[in-house]
Amino acid sequence: MNRKYRKCIIAANWKMNKTPTEAKEFAKQFKLIAPKGRWCDIIVCAPAITIPAAVRAFKETRVTVGGQNVYWKQSGAYTGEISTDMLVDAGAECVIIGHSERRSVEETDYSVNLKTAAAIKAGLTPIICVGESLQQRDLGVAFDIISTQVKMAVAGLTKPQMRKVIFAYEPLWAIGTGVNATPEQAEEICEHIRATIRKAFDARVARAISILYGGSMNPSNAAELLAMPDVDGGLIGGAALDPEKFVNIIKAANQPSAKE
Ligand code: PGA
Repeated sequence: MNRKYRKCIIAANWKMNKTPTEAKEFAKQFKLIAPKGRWCDIIVCAPAITIPAAVRAFKETRVTVGGQNVYWKQSGAYTGEISTDMLVDAGAECVIIGHSERRSVEETDYSVNLKTAAAIKAGLTPIICVGESLQQRDLGVAFDIISTQVKMAVAGLTKPQMRKVIFAYEPLWAIGTGVNATPEQAEEICEHIRATIRKAFDARVARAISILYGGSMNPSNAAELLAMPDVDGGLIGGAALDPEKFVNIIKAANQPSAKE
């Protein structure tokens, strides 16, 4: 990571885990062991129904709470969807958009674009997930897939709006598998994401954007992944369900090797 130009961000993606009661318990344990230092921003993306409880539970900590999905329409007959206003009113400050687990059911590059624009308009920070499947990697088209996902997600945004965006590179083959990308693989694609942004916007915008890595990040591999120059943080699933593991990843972001 490069702290001169951008923020280090350690974000939990709780997925469909943690009831409001469990979130409260997590926060209680987290507070006992959380480091005092401020070397990274900490985010917890909770299930929609858990957001208000998580916001309350993490009050007086440095943790900000986010959602895991949002709809782009403001209100209306969209059964089961959640609007940006609802997230904001519940206390969320950011939202994951385009996670591969959503792309596998309904999300497209186009809906990711609509959701990103809606989130920014509402003052929510979008955490846009991109990533290739194993087949795409084996066929040698990972770079093309990633640049299309990146360009589609942020098409139409202005440069000031782009400064609010966070990207997360999450290779599908690394999510929940216990097989993380090597630091070199993660760097190569995170660098490519930045280069794509540079081309679509400019060098200043590209330099300022935090790009996270996600996919089986844990306390033992976090420091070496975070040591790569274009990896500015992590989006963590499984390991973020346990307060101690989550805290150890936050601590790993402060290792000397992760600092440059
Ligand atoms: P994982 O999930 O850390 O369990 O691999 C990451 C994610 O899907 O965001």
